[in-house]
Amino acid sequence: MPGSAKPVTTLQLARMKRDGKKIVMLTAYDALFASLVDAAGVDIVLVGDSVNTVLCGEETTLSSTLEQMVYHGRIVRRGVQRALVIVDMPFMSYQVSVEEAKRNAGRVLKQTGAHGVKLEGGAAMAETIGALVSIGIPVMGHLGFTPQSVHQVGGYRVQGRDAAAAERMVADAQALQQAGVFSIVLELTPSEVARRVTEAVTVPTIGIGSGPHCDGQVLVLHDMLGLNEGFEPKFLKRYADLAAAVRQAVEAFGADVREGRYPDAGHSYDT
Ligand code: KIV
Repeated sequence: MPGSAKPVTTLQLARMKRDGKKIVMLTAYDALFASLVDAAGVDIVLVGDSVNTVLCGEETTLSSTLEQMVYHGRIVRRGVQRALVIVDMPFMSYQVSVEEAKRNAGRVLKQTGAHGVKLEGGAAMAETIGALVSIGIPVMGHLGFTPQSVHQVGGYRVQGRDAAAAERMVADAQALQQAGVFSIVLELTPSEVARRVTEAVTVPTIGIGSGPHCDGQVLVLHDMLGLNEGFEPKFLKRYADLAAAVRQAVEAFGADVREGRYPDAGHSYDT
């Protein structure tokens, strides 16, 4: 709850699911926004590899690097006092071998001060997840649309629409739970499938574009603040129009400078 300084833990998130309390998660990529969302009472701050598209202008998350995630993880962690901070493992930092995944996830935790990592994939990732959890690294899973597989699944599209795919998603979620994840993100999944997955596991599910039945919800901060104007998927609700506010402020500054209104005496120093 906003104002409470008691740090959020993975155990508390499990309790929230048991008690029917919704979990709130947002992305942040820097200390300033992280401190704002933390002070507003979010439970989890995700340093998403979406930083690569949202801030860096890349087409996909595939070119995101470990160095980039460590850098953003570290600066986000500085801004957070209460929320659980989770850092995305970038593409190819955890798929090659279990050893490499351990080394890289360990580096993320050591060098950022974050509380855990998130990685994409179903049953195929269970061994890796189990190995990370066994050495004390909390892991959040990610099912449904997994952006690092965007080319394999043929674009940014809803997953689990047919019966077999829905069945697979439930089995994947159970495999992740068995491997030890503390939570699972469900991205772009039909509401009924997300409900089935949520009921099939005891760990909390956090939805994005996956309807109301998940145990929590996540959005990309820049999208919900209306900073990312070209991105308008059906699931996105905008809570502000910051792009327009930024444009207006910059235009007003430009006009003031050009017309000699800024700086005036009130914004200048005396000798
Ligand atoms: O990278 C990211 O921002 C994410 C969220 C969309 C869940 O993985």
